[in-house]
Amino acid sequence: MKSILKTTNLSFSYDKIHPVLQDINLEFSKGVVYVIFGKSGAGKSTLLSLIAGLEKIEAGCIFYQDKDLARCNLDYYRSHDIGIVFQAYNLLPQLTAIENVVLSIELNHSKEKNKEEKAKALLKKLVFVRI
Ligand SMILES: Nc1ncnc2c1ncn2[C@@H]1O[C@H](COP(=O)(O)OP(=O)(O)OP(=O)(O)O)[C@@H](O)[C@H]1O
Ligand SMILES: [Mg+2]
Repeated sequence: MKSILKTTNLSFSYDKIHPVLQDINLEFSKGVVYVIFGKSGAGKSTLLSLIAGLEKIEAGCIFYQDKDLARCNLDYYRSHDIGIVFQAYNLLPQLTAIENVVLSIELNHSKEKNKEEKAKALLKKLVFVRI
């Protein structure tokens, strides 16, 4: 199966001294659920941050649908192609769950007419959320 997302020789360090990721080569196919596991500090969140376009790629490449992320419009990629549930949530605490989702729909310049209904529908897909 052709991969939708691929990393080639991906390496990363926060401080240029201690490597967090070294030569990571992964391929992800569309429609398949993957689990990335490893001990605390192994670099799982770092890998996800790079794939999500939140950290700058320093060495190696990430390809999304054969496009090199380093050459992509990351604002578009982050708002249309990739989604991430943060380990530390990163939600705005003064807003409700629905308001947090509505905000991201608004930031996306969506033409959605009823953003609140859309947000509720999306949140209902998360089985652990009660609305
Ligand atoms: N923003 C940061 N600045 C500097 N070092 C960081 C930063 N984030 C993570 N690190 C370090 O990078 C390494 C990998 O961290 P990361 O959070 O990716 O691990 P993890 O596998 O997600 O761990 P956990 O299972 O605890 O979530 C650790 O040594 C961590 O201390
Ligand atoms: Mg983590």
